[in-house]
Amino acid sequence: MNTLDLSRKIILITGGAGAIGRVVVQILLAHGATVAVNDVIPAEDAEAVLPKSERLRYFRADTARAEETAAMFDAVESMLGMPNVVCCHAGMVGAHPVTEYPLAEYDKLMEVNVRAAFVTAQEAARRWIARGIAGHLIFTTSWVQDVPWPEITPYTTSKSAMKAMMRGFARELANKGIRANAIAPGIVAVGMAKRQWDTDPSYRARASKAIPLGYMQPPESVADAFAFLCSDMAAYMTGATLLVDGGCSLYPMD
Ligand SMILES: NC(=O)c1ccc[n+]([C@@H]2O[C@H](COP(=O)([O-])OP(=O)(O)OC[C@H]3O[C@@H](n4cnc5c(N)ncnc54)[C@H](O)[C@@H]3O)[C@@H](O)[C@H]2O)c1
Repeated sequence: MNTLDLSRKIILITGGAGAIGRVVVQILLAHGATVAVNDVIPAEDAEAVLPKSERLRYFRADTARAEETAAMFDAVESMLGMPNVVCCHAGMVGAHPVTEYPLAEYDKLMEVNVRAAFVTAQEAARRWIARGIAGHLIFTTSWVQDVPWPEITPYTTSKSAMKAMMRGFARELANKGIRANAIAPGIVAVGMAKRQWDTDPSYRARASKAIPLGYMQPPESVADAFAFLCSDMAAYMTGATLLVDGGCSLYPMD
């Protein structure tokens, strides 16, 4: 028996065209899932970076906006069916000292990381309850949900908020058979963190000290955690954070 068979799963992932998201999408497809990919970028840009598959469709929407998100769920339902797993994965990061953090940037970050996750999870939960579906929410948080890290305090705040949100959905909707869990990655070797690692020696020194396993996180390791949590192997999990961080969260900051 293939315990990671996802062929009966319809999985929606927000921010799925991003650096980590596109690797997650590839691995979910490889395990047989049907995948609805959401992002804010134009369809042609998303299609250029996403794998090609009959089991993949792209749905453009800003998930911080309730009407756009509801319309996206309508489109997903009519083209693929109602997802049984919804991944609140879209996110952004910004780096400034706390004393200089621009408030407009703070508001934007909270909108993308916290509000968009709530809007998506709320819309999914409403539909699952109306249709009697035992759905599963997966929130992408971060090891910094519990650990401070210089210059990204609004980001760490947002990830703590997402953890609390995940636990709230899990507790409140358990009696409807709806589950919620989080995946907390470490310092992933793609995008901004990788560029900083390659070009900024002080960041590299600090970050490599913070990774007990000693190397940046392969995005495939995040994707494998998604495959497991989406599978029936994780069916008894709710309210949990799956840390996949190379031990980053073990590091005491000085
Ligand atoms: N990169 C890391 O080291 C790391 C570590 C831990 C957690 N994470 C988390 O993983 C997730 C993905 O990160 P990434 O590094 O791939 O970043 P990324 O910027 O490459 O991907 C994020 C995607 O979200 C999309 N997006 C932004 N706002 C949106 C909205 N309102 N609606 C829909 N989509 C929207 C963006 O267009 C982008 O494609 C984020 O939640 C991030 O916080 C990343």
